[in-house]
Amino acid sequence: MEWIADQYDQFQKRYQLKNGLDLISKLEAITNLKDRDILDLGCGNGELSLVLADKIGLNGSITAVDRDEGMLEVFKEKAGSNRVKICREDLLPWLDSDRNRYDIVFSNAVFHWLSTAANLLGTFAGIYKVLKYKGCLAVRFSLEGNAEETKGFLEKQLRYFLNDNSITLSRSRFNYKQCATMIEQCGFELLESIEKVFVPFSEPESHFQWMIKSQPLLNYLNANQLELFKSYLYQQWKEKPVQVKSHHGVFLAQKPASSPFDNANRS
Ligand SMILES: C[S@@+](CC[C@H](N)C(=O)[O-])C[C@H]1O[C@@H](n2cnc3c(N)ncnc32)[C@H](O)[C@@H]1O
Repeated sequence: MEWIADQYDQFQKRYQLKNGLDLISKLEAITNLKDRDILDLGCGNGELSLVLADKIGLNGSITAVDRDEGMLEVFKEKAGSNRVKICREDLLPWLDSDRNRYDIVFSNAVFHWLSTAANLLGTFAGIYKVLKYKGCLAVRFSLEGNAEETKGFLEKQLRYFLNDNSITLSRSRFNYKQCATMIEQCGFELLESIEKVFVPFSEPESHFQWMIKSQPLLNYLNANQLELFKSYLYQQWKEKPVQVKSHHGVFLAQKPASSPFDNANRS
């Protein structure tokens, strides 16, 4: 999926930033951020990397990884002279390139884009490798069932508008239990984990804006169709808006001081 980075940047401030700041507070409750080497996986427009950068003091470092060029351009403009190392890479192969390097791995709203369980497990195993002993992982992402009503509505309208019943929007695939089990399988000690089920928008207009900005409409429509579709969609929405329920997994974990998993992961 290609992101519309400028649009995400405006939208992020209202939705994703709040979730990310919540994750940062939870991280601060389990560890000190000062003088730490932090890796932000799937940093996107960098808004949260810069919040972390403000907390690490002069001796800490931030490395931010994302594969999307547009997102990273927006980030670079914002970062200015801030001491942040920005890498354009796919996170799974990138995690294989380093060992015992970071005190903290942080990731907000990314892992549901990993399309298979093998990739998700491989990502947790890679994070385990790049973390120092006693290093912490703080991760939040969408779980199975996330925004199901919104996706169902949008899918139905896209199918009708394009007269194509094969259109299927991608969904978060992993449930809470699977994720918690994978994290432990990789050798982590799970410190805190919750499935947050919540209604993120109190009124339909914000929900509508979120839907048209966060869902990959350009995968299905060209620029001319897009504007027509948005007005068609708005009419349908006004007649019968749906409620949205978010399902997010929040996981905080620690790599132990030493563990039998290390040998398994090194081979
Ligand atoms: C919803 S945005 C989240 C951005 C940021 N973490 C935040 O909270 O605002 C998801 C980001 O994950 C990145 N991403 C998804 N899969 C990735 C992968 N396999 N490798 C690197 N980046 C990935 C996307 O490019 C996108 O920038």
